[in-house]
Amino acid sequence: MERTLAILKPDGVEQGHSGKIIAKIEAAGFKVIACKMTKMTKAVAEAFYSVHKGRPFYEPLIDFMTEGPSILLVLEKDDAVQDYRKLMGSTDPDKAAEGTIRKEFAENTRRNVVHGSDSPENAEKEISFFFSTSEVL
Ligand code: RTP
Ligand code: MG
Repeated sequence: MERTLAILKPDGVEQGHSGKIIAKIEAAGFKVIACKMTKMTKAVAEAFYSVHKGRPFYEPLIDFMTEGPSILLVLEKDDAVQDYRKLMGSTDPDKAAEGTIRKEFAENTRRNVVHGSDSPENAEKEISFFFSTSEVL
């Protein structure tokens, strides 16, 4: 079994889409093995997205991720990383496939409702960034 970190970003949480998105995730065969709500501080968002530091979208991304609460989920499934990326859809919702979370709920390339780890190695790093071992059940 593989694990991945999913984040329901502040836009979808504010708009009341969390339940629908989690239902979609569960219907696709993922098991939620950890869950919490947090309002990221600037320091946390900057550290989490440090790989994008220096890119033109970095500062607006930090503002977006700190504007309100997010929901953090650890998901478990065979091929969880790849399969959850597929369920999220393309970063740009206009390019996202039918039936994906971003196609249904995302506004644009920044305000795109969900995050998913991009490799099993990064998934493990991202999970331990937000969760202690005892919080993953
Ligand atoms: P994520 O890391 O959040 O799962 O998204 P991703 O892999 O699909 O996209 P990535 O390239 O890692 O970008 C991280 C997040 O930065 C925002 N972004 N804005 N051109 C823009 O305005 C732009 N490009 C990226 C998005 O919120 C994206 O998900
Ligand atoms: Mg990414």
